Amino acid sequence: MIQPLLAKSEFIGLENIAHLAAGGETPMLKSHRQVIDQFMIDKSRGEEARALEADMVELTRDKCARLFSVSAEEITFLSNASEGINNVAYGLEWQKGDNIVVADVEFPSGILPWTRFENLGVEVRVVRHKNWFIDRDDIAALIDERTRVVTISHVSMFTGQRIDLESLSGLVRSSNALLLLDATHAAGVIPVDASLADIMVSSCYKWLLGVHGAAVFYVNCERLPDFRPPFLGWNNPIKHGGWEKPTEFTLQPSAHKFQPGNAAFISIYILNNALDHILKTGINSIEQHALTLSGMIFEFVESLGFELMTPFEDSQRAGNVCFMAEKIEDIRQALERQHVLIWGAYAGFGRLRISTHLYNDSIDVERCIEALKE
Ligand SMILES: Cc1ncc(COP(=O)(O)O)c(C=O)c1O
Repeated sequence: MIQPLLAKSEFIGLENIAHLAAGGETPMLKSHRQVIDQFMIDKSRGEEARALEADMVELTRDKCARLFSVSAEEITFLSNASEGINNVAYGLEWQKGDNIVVADVEFPSGILPWTRFENLGVEVRVVRHKNWFIDRDDIAALIDERTRVVTISHVSMFTGQRIDLESLSGLVRSSNALLLLDATHAAGVIPVDASLADIMVSSCYKWLLGVHGAAVFYVNCERLPDFRPPFLGWNNPIKHGGWEKPTEFTLQPSAHKFQPGNAAFISIYILNNALDHILKTGINSIEQHALTLSGMIFEFVESLGFELMTPFEDSQRAGNVCFMAEKIEDIRQALERQHVLIWGAYAGFGRLRISTHLYNDSIDVERCIEALKE
């Protein structure tokens, strides 16, 4: 039997459930309760609260820096991944004839922000999948000297495909474009070397075991020292002219320059605790565990004759196994009645997603397989 890497008893609601829905939402760590309590105590301490909250931001930044193999200065926390992508879209100055390269199966937040600039003559170029697979050569074919951004998910929420980040980074760096990586389905389950990208965003409420309200925003300060934030408030400047020169300011040198106001401190307290668990368990062990369990699911789903969207090679997938089926909602609900949680249709499109993470064991997989047989 394959044991969980982190005991189910550490989470809320896993007693009699096979929770295979990490690609949507992960269950809450019980220890988050103490963390929320700590936040409430800290917040109640008047001006000292701000110093305590700022300390927590820095602590959490350091842990993100470790997880993403970058420096803490290059990390800040925005409200969600979509906001991070929009920061890039609105932070760049667009010229007629510029283009952005995206994949057709990308999450809408990776595609829609760029359409705002179409009226300026900016083109959104769409790479088409082949059998649900996004091919590096098809990305390469759309990049030209006017490509400003190539944006893609490290692991696809829709197909489960993991891209070869090193290879894509090499491709994009040989052009004039920036690589904007959405690591939402990778962070917390496989190693992510964010320094291979120019900007990286990640939600925290899925594989990272955190909650909504805080998302990781990484900007490669070495490659983009002068990247200007599109939104300004009291928090972006390191120096402000005060009432005498109220419009004068100097931007912070670090990624915090993208944060106009207060961060979602309570979510960052929770993220800090979540990162402790992930870093302690070890991202390489988590990757191996998730791949082993999802590999078992893959083989069974294939044997049932469903149309698999996820490639089988370990290097081309992570914790998601996605497949097409008819009557998706019926299947999802039937599994739920048997206490097996998976994720259903996306935006009305017929795909099911089964996700394996560090709290799953082989019994969860067997329960899912038994339930799917029916
Ligand atoms: C690839 C990807 N990015 C981002 C998100 C979530 O974005 P946000 O943090 O803006 O809610 C999701 C949610 O499903 C996703 O699949």
